[in-house]
Amino acid sequence: MKILAEALILVFLCIFLGSEHRICHAFSSNYNARTKCLIEPEAAQDGGGITANPDFTHGMDGWTVYGQGAMKEEISRNGNRFIVAYNRTQSLDSISQKVQLRRGLIYSFSAWIQINKGSERVAVVFKIPRTELIIGGRVLARKGCWSLLKGGIFANFTSHAGILFESKNTATEIWVDSVSLQPFTLEQWRAQQDKKIDKERKSKVRFKVTYGNGTAMDSAAVSIKQTRSEFPFGCGMNFHIIDSTDYQNWFASRFKYTTFTNQMKWYSNEPEQGQENYTVADTMVKFAQRNGISIRGHNILWDDPKYQPEWVKNLTSDELRKAAEKRVDSVVSRYSGQLIAWDVINENLHFSFFEDKLGKEASSKYFKRAYELDPGTTMFLNEFSTIEYSNDEDVDPISYMKKLDEILSYHGNQGILAGIGLEGHFGVGQPNLAYMRSVLDILSSTGLPIWLTEVDVVKEPNQAEYLEQILREVYCHHAVQGIIMFAGPATAGFNATTLVDKDFKNHRIRRCCGQTD
Ligand SMILES: *[C@@H]1O[C@H](CO)[C@@H](O)[C@H](O)[C@H]1NC(C)=O
Ligand SMILES: *[C@@H]1O[C@H](CO)[C@@H](O)[C@H](O)[C@H]1NC(C)=O
Ligand SMILES: *[C@@H]1O[C@H](CO)[C@@H](O)[C@H](O)[C@H]1NC(C)=O
Ligand SMILES: *[C@@H]1O[C@H](CO)[C@@H](O)[C@H](O)[C@H]1NC(C)=O
Ligand SMILES: *[C@@H]1O[C@H](CO)[C@@H](O)[C@H](O)[C@H]1NC(C)=O
Ligand SMILES: *[C@@H]1O[C@H](CO)[C@@H](O)[C@H](O)[C@H]1NC(C)=O
Repeated sequence: MKILAEALILVFLCIFLGSEHRICHAFSSNYNARTKCLIEPEAAQDGGGITANPDFTHGMDGWTVYGQGAMKEEISRNGNRFIVAYNRTQSLDSISQKVQLRRGLIYSFSAWIQINKGSERVAVVFKIPRTELIIGGRVLARKGCWSLLKGGIFANFTSHAGILFESKNTATEIWVDSVSLQPFTLEQWRAQQDKKIDKERKSKVRFKVTYGNGTAMDSAAVSIKQTRSEFPFGCGMNFHIIDSTDYQNWFASRFKYTTFTNQMKWYSNEPEQGQENYTVADTMVKFAQRNGISIRGHNILWDDPKYQPEWVKNLTSDELRKAAEKRVDSVVSRYSGQLIAWDVINENLHFSFFEDKLGKEASSKYFKRAYELDPGTTMFLNEFSTIEYSNDEDVDPISYMKKLDEILSYHGNQGILAGIGLEGHFGVGQPNLAYMRSVLDILSSTGLPIWLTEVDVVKEPNQAEYLEQILREVYCHHAVQGIIMFAGPATAGFNATTLVDKDFKNHRIRRCCGQTD
């Protein structure tokens, strides 16, 4: 009851103060408490798509056992039929259905999952002949209620594929209902993105044109020109901007948001122990401020052992603790009140340099300290592969939310402004847009702002097309509040995603049909 009352107060405050106000970022700790879990599952989305007997209304027709286990039909007290995979000895022992996938189509997947004890990750896995298994998505399933597993796959092949379910804990039964696999062409997906963009990002403007005396004009030609975008869409920058007026002009006329690629990192600011040097970072901050460009602070500390300043690598724990505390205090107080975000402990899902040496609460403590020094600024986690790839369980949305829980439930961190940073470094191949959408859907249940913080796509023939698809997918999602690309001019070393050539002319990218742009 108390929780409900607090939730209601929060809703009212949000209405009065606008969704940007800090109270609306309040975070309810505990993954389980936030994610939807139902007594009875919903019906299969899109009628199940190409899945046969998706709701098990015809018993187990169309479904087979995969691996060593067994399956059986069950009926709930309300008469709902579902299927149970049990007697499992391998993580992939489950139920399976063979479907036909067609090259070039996006397949959106969903199913309702329950297990018979505790809570466990359950994944949907696509088994394609002569290919590695492809993870389509994961859910933290629970005993006692149904959770929605969603995700998808892009088919860059035409083949049959087996839909399987995976749980590493073989002692649990996997209960499945309302399975859906719905194909979309890229054109259909794009139309859907456009519809979401219309809904989420556009609003109606009403004009009233009158004479000076207040009488309405009968007919008037009104022309409107958008001069500025409300949505924070920015670009990384580096030290080359200090000495290049071309780079400065190019940047300032396009972007109002930025992140410095390396110049605010510890190894840049304190290359030798005790010799801090903020000359470059300060100069870039001044350039940004002169041009009304907001800055994300990147980063206070970085949990990857590789990227510590050389002198940090061999410190004893005591020395490291002192040095790291000094670093946090130094950089955060220097720029306190001047930034819109801090990446606090960069990549602390993949890595644990500070945790390994200083104890498992290291990240939580630095979040706390940074927020004390800069309480108006949103403190972000920042991680790669969460939205780019489905295979890396260490950084999937379940792991991400677990880390958030851990940091934000640490004593003193309740109610701090926190954000979800997804880097977005995409490799070769068609991005898995259906999976990307499911990641954003899951993370949006936290209520925290989500930013794409370092978007780029490696050089490849379809680079421009893939970058556009990625940007549209992210932009059309309601929970995304900003996007920064790590891209820029060739002369500044942006050789993965190059936006302009050495003459600051738009980089020419091959398109289909012989066009260039
Ligand atoms: C369950 O597994 C055991 C051991 O593998 C096996 O002997 C038994 O037949 C299985 N039961 C069913 C119903 O498949
Ligand atoms: C208001 O101004 C317009 C344009 O000068 C004129 O045509 C119109 O009659 C005026 N209306 C009134 C109520 O004075
Ligand atoms: C600080 O860095 C700047 C830019 O790299 C350099 O010119 C300057 O000499 C450095 N200052 C010190 C005291 O090392
Ligand atoms: C750190 O220690 C390693 C091995 O213990 C040594 O090879 C390296 O030179 C040391 N680095 C520094 C900067 O002292
Ligand atoms: C399909 O995509 C995967 C991952 O991007 C890649 O490894 C594989 O080679 C591709 N296959 C084909 C037939 O293009
Ligand atoms: C991009 O530039 C960096 C630094 O100049 C270099 O190390 C890297 O190899 C380049 N990458 C490519 C793909 O050319």
